[in-house]
Amino acid sequence: MPDPELAATVQHSGGSYPVVAGWGLLENLGDRFLELELKNTAYIITDENVMRPYGRIAQRALQKRGIAAHCFIIPQGEPSKNFELAQGIYQWLVSLKAERGQAIIAVGGGVVGDLAGFVAATFLRGLPFVQVPTSMAAMVDASVGGKVAVNLPQGKNLVGAFYQPRAVLADVATLSTLGKRELAEGWAEAIKHGLILDTDLFELFEEHAEDLMALEPELSTEIIRRSMAIKAAVVSQDERETLGIRILLNYGHTIGHALEASTDYGRFMHGEGVAIGMMGAGRMAQRMGLIPQEVVDRQRQILQRFSLPIDAKGVSGVSLDQVRQAMSLDKKTDGGAIRWVMLEKIGKATVRQDVPPELVEETLRELIS
Ligand SMILES: NC(=O)c1ccc[n+]([C@@H]2O[C@H](COP(=O)([O-])OP(=O)(O)OC[C@H]3O[C@@H](n4cnc5c(N)ncnc54)[C@H](O)[C@@H]3O)[C@@H](O)[C@H]2O)c1
Repeated sequence: MPDPELAATVQHSGGSYPVVAGWGLLENLGDRFLELELKNTAYIITDENVMRPYGRIAQRALQKRGIAAHCFIIPQGEPSKNFELAQGIYQWLVSLKAERGQAIIAVGGGVVGDLAGFVAATFLRGLPFVQVPTSMAAMVDASVGGKVAVNLPQGKNLVGAFYQPRAVLADVATLSTLGKRELAEGWAEAIKHGLILDTDLFELFEEHAEDLMALEPELSTEIIRRSMAIKAAVVSQDERETLGIRILLNYGHTIGHALEASTDYGRFMHGEGVAIGMMGAGRMAQRMGLIPQEVVDRQRQILQRFSLPIDAKGVSGVSLDQVRQAMSLDKKTDGGAIRWVMLEKIGKATVRQDVPPELVEETLRELIS
């Protein structure tokens, strides 16, 4: 019988894995885990905010099915993606005599997923890894695609790997403990998926914005599944970001990252930066004659309905100079020219390297000052 909670199956060089989303899925984590035919001991990595209640629910659900489940709790937040903490987890695994074939389960947001995945990729040259994302950003983005990493003092995600999980198992009900701002910034990535690749998904956002912000269970679960399916399809086609397909997911990220980085990640949440970045890219695409004004307007309206920012005017600590500098350090450059992801219409994106510098400058000024 087909699995009604299955959002997609990711295909990769080493095999495939299911991406699943359900409301209340955590209660059945033990059954889901047994389907993966892994050894009967699991190591849950979670953070201090997520441990109660979700880490605990996950642990009990596994134990109910006879799976030994140990928990390692990290401090919440981006600074936890570091080598020292990874080493602390390695030592914990050694103390518990963790063996090949036993799984690491990441229960948490993208920070937990990236760090736990990094540990899974490296401990004993690789333990099976299961993603149980609990933030919106982790569900629709970070948990799917196998990018795992830790940060260095010099920059984010500088050391990592492509290491695909055995499954992504998302319980959408966990999102009900996120604040409104966290929920909205997560939806920004899902809206982006509609904008770049799926007109119907974008129209669903237009139809149901308020219900989605209220996290209406059935609708939210369905839309998260669709959004996960887009990420899954993209990474299945371009596992290692070499074919120019995965880069489309970076829509809004050139300016977005620069805004985040230039303010030391303290002013904007990631999805907020992306929302402003999408507005910048939208305006440039319109001025280059790629899209009509109507597309820019629809994009702006949907972001506003999700209470997302559409510019950075009046935000203290944002400097045009620093944003320019951060943009010039961006990874998405090729021989010095920035590769801009731009819309051709709602549901279709392309990459352009011929954006005139004066247009970029004019757009940044409009967004910031
Ligand atoms: N691997 C990838 O492809 C990929 C993609 C995008 C982002 N990322 C990474 O993901 C990280 C950002 O992810 P994030 O936004 O989930 O950050 P996060 O993991 O720091 O989570 C944000 C906050 O929400 C809390 N939280 C998580 N789930 C919760 C819940 N259900 N209820 C209440 N609070 C909850 C966390 O404790 C944390 O305080 C960054 O490190 C980024 O680099 C990775």
